Amino acid sequence: MIKGVILAGGQGTRLRPFTHLINKHLLPVYDKPLIYYPLLAMRNAGIKEILLTSNKEDLPNFKKLLGSGSEFNLRITYAAQNGPKGIAHALALAEKFANGAKIAVMLGDNIFTNHEQIKSGVAAFAKDGGARLFLKEVPDPERFGIAEVHQARITSIIEKPKSPLSNLAVTGLYLYDSDVFAIVKTLKPSERGELEITDVNNYYVKNGLARYDIVKGDWIDAGTFDSLVHASMLMLKKNREFPVDIT
Ligand code: TTP
Repeated sequence: MIKGVILAGGQGTRLRPFTHLINKHLLPVYDKPLIYYPLLAMRNAGIKEILLTSNKEDLPNFKKLLGSGSEFNLRITYAAQNGPKGIAHALALAEKFANGAKIAVMLGDNIFTNHEQIKSGVAAFAKDGGARLFLKEVPDPERFGIAEVHQARITSIIEKPKSPLSNLAVTGLYLYDSDVFAIVKTLKPSERGELEITDVNNYYVKNGLARYDIVKGDWIDAGTFDSLVHASMLMLKKNREFPVDIT
């Protein structure tokens, strides 16, 4: 059974001054804290057990808000990341939790609206090894990690390419087999001093083990004020059409 890992650490420098006071993932997106959206996406994809990682000083707030996860029909446990040392650094905290199972990793500031598609991707991945990444067509590929694909595989991922080979951005949802923890152990910090998730993904790509889905619904990386407002507007509209029940 695949397990879920939600990464909710980082510094949130682009959302200062709020993030001096409160973790980014606790800020509101319309009527819910941002962290509810990845939790609900995982839950609606059929995942039952979640590890949430964040900075040590922020974990008490997450525990106060989410507790054991029973309100969401989830089992949530927590792990403290010792400083914002990168997405792959946070992921390494999940090794014991995973206990040999495959994992779905989601960045806590990513919002996906097509949960059925995630469910199908997770089901397809249950039969495969390697990695399965969720890609989204974007109008401005120079701003993202961009994947080149051939048939069912990803053949390269380039960060913020000057001459993009496609318009397929790598989103913050990754499915990995249990090799991911051995791969993370081989990583060296990048120039910005972080363990980079792109290096993990490129390991799978180089070994011909990275499959993909192209996201059909909305995808928002809510890490800036513009995208946070955009997410709120989208959820306001959706909620008027289909009020969202968390249970
Ligand atoms: P980013 O948005 O790349 O970084 P950040 O959250 O620190 O924000 P900013 O760039 O504005 O300073 O992080 C993407 C997601 O990954 C976000 O949901 C937080 C999470 N994350 C961790 O959990 N641990 C980390 O060490 C880092 C860098 C990010």
